[in-house]
Amino acid sequence: VDVISSAGRYEVHVGVDLLPSLGARVKAAGLLGRVAVVSDETVFDSWGRQALDSLGQAGLAAQPLVVPPGESTKTLSSAEALFGGLIQGGFTRNDTLLALGGGVVGDLGGFVAATFHRGMALVQVPTTLLAQVDSSVGGKVAVDHPLGKNLIGAFHPARLVLADVRTLETLPARERWSGMAEVVKAALIQDEGLLELLEQRLEALATGAGAGAELAEVVRRAVQIKANVVSRDERETGPRMWLNFGHTFGHALETATGYGPLTHGEAVVQGMRVALALSVKLGRLTPAEAARAQQLLARFPPPPSWPAVAPAAVKAALFRDKKVQAGRLRFVVLSRLGQAEVEPELPPELVDQGVAQTVTPP
Ligand SMILES: NC(=O)c1ccc[n+]([C@@H]2O[C@H](COP(=O)([O-])OP(=O)(O)OC[C@H]3O[C@@H](n4cnc5c(N)ncnc54)[C@H](O)[C@@H]3O)[C@@H](O)[C@H]2O)c1
Ligand SMILES: [Zn+2]
Repeated sequence: VDVISSAGRYEVHVGVDLLPSLGARVKAAGLLGRVAVVSDETVFDSWGRQALDSLGQAGLAAQPLVVPPGESTKTLSSAEALFGGLIQGGFTRNDTLLALGGGVVGDLGGFVAATFHRGMALVQVPTTLLAQVDSSVGGKVAVDHPLGKNLIGAFHPARLVLADVRTLETLPARERWSGMAEVVKAALIQDEGLLELLEQRLEALATGAGAGAELAEVVRRAVQIKANVVSRDERETGPRMWLNFGHTFGHALETATGYGPLTHGEAVVQGMRVALALSVKLGRLTPAEAARAQQLLARFPPPPSWPAVAPAAVKAALFRDKKVQAGRLRFVVLSRLGQAEVEPELPPELVDQGVAQTVTPP
């Protein structure tokens, strides 16, 4: 899949068993310097050896820099530790930072690559479904601040993204379902054909023991959707907003529950339920179409029960969202299955109805 970015064009390679050819693909992308492999302990234990071997076989000198797993690693102090590793390892701007892991490693490693010596080449090797279909494509990199997520960041598109679905074989089931929420989102906003495929094969794709050609095809189609959107609108002024479908109320729920009980995907599934209901109330989507989408969402495993959250907490989180301008909540709706549109302002009574539905477990 080709992506057009402000920094030039890059390729996303999607397939089964791509990791053994990682080194050759990095070289073919014109990256001939040394490679700092940033990963987390969990991912590195499973897939680090293969990645290092492949780089070595291609004649690329590689050095691992491994961080602890989890969102709590996505901080400036982790970035500082990585800068130290790069400096001590003698890395320069002509070298490459390769992020091997999920969205945490991709965002953190990407942020370090964006800022080290004012920017070094970045290669993303996403190993979660979420990272493969979402965070590795589009150039957004960031670390969290104690006062909020993703507040310190940059646009730093990768020079190459390699999504090997084989690496998903070690991903815990709950994480795979979480990523599947983004796949459903992609289908709902842009690709009715993919929606039909998901309707036929959702459980097999999300829980299949193996990670084969069928999953690779679904990942490729979801990446294609993200690539189309960010290629048209890297800086989120128009179509890129569509990617926020289900995320307005979903993010608010994540914030109000303190980023603990729910995975991102579980929150986004709940947010998509709300967005579908509001799309109908706004007269944009027919009840029959919404019901069809709701049926697909109902096939996701129920989230663990989350502690009761006050509607006011969700509402407060909503209005801290970056999609709020001058007190107006811009909102992504569906105008049909496979087509998202931006509603410039969600009326206050619908905000309240959305909040009430958000805090009510399915
Ligand atoms: N930059 C963007 O555009 C963008 C978009 C969406 C999300 N994000 C960010 O992505 C992050 C979430 O990403 P994530 O869900 O991938 O989380 P993650 O990177 O924390 O990975 C989830 C867990 O799975 C483990 N893991 C990863 N790959 C594995 C594998 N193949 N086998 C076994 N275990 C594996 C990790 O160690 C971690 O414990 C958030 O910080 C979010 O803000 C960024
Ligand atoms: Zn998301």
